[in-house]
Amino acid sequence: MAILKIARMGHPVLSQAAAPVEDPAAPEVGRLIMDMLETMEDAQGTGLAAPQVYAPRRIVAFFVSGARAEREDGAEGETPPEDVPLTVLINPVVEVLSDDMALGWEACLSVPGLMGEVPRHSAIRYRGLNPRGEEIVREAHGFHARVVQHECDHLDGILYPRRMTDLSTLIFTSELRAMGRAEAEED
Ligand code: NI
Repeated sequence: MAILKIARMGHPVLSQAAAPVEDPAAPEVGRLIMDMLETMEDAQGTGLAAPQVYAPRRIVAFFVSGARAEREDGAEGETPPEDVPLTVLINPVVEVLSDDMALGWEACLSVPGLMGEVPRHSAIRYRGLNPRGEEIVREAHGFHARVVQHECDHLDGILYPRRMTDLSTLIFTSELRAMGRAEAEED
């Protein structure tokens, strides 16, 4: 395994459409996934897409803790959401289930130091293959849905600032206190 360099906004690999993975069981795909997971853990990212490590293939990885989702979505008086386990999706497809959009803060390992408020669909269904080639199908809401939309956007060459509708909220995380939002946190 290896910790890989992370491409930053401006590198062409981040603005091109990634190619589908033909054989999820291929050894080089397995190696790439292991390296992505190690890189994501090292960078303490919520998610990572293969183009971010200079591999323009349709692979994403993410982890959503229930506690984090509850913080982001606001407690709704129900039991805290369960963790979404560390998930690798190959050739993911996102289907929008609601026209309802929600605004939330996002950050990206390829846009270091910044964060911004991004509108995302509040409910989606996503599907893709896990590294064993088995299909995963899930419905996602709120922060979970946000993370998946952010990561899958990377596969189409889209970074979150392009989804923003109010660029006045694109700020340096280090200036967060000046915004009076010390509660928010970076990815
Ligand atoms: Ni990102």
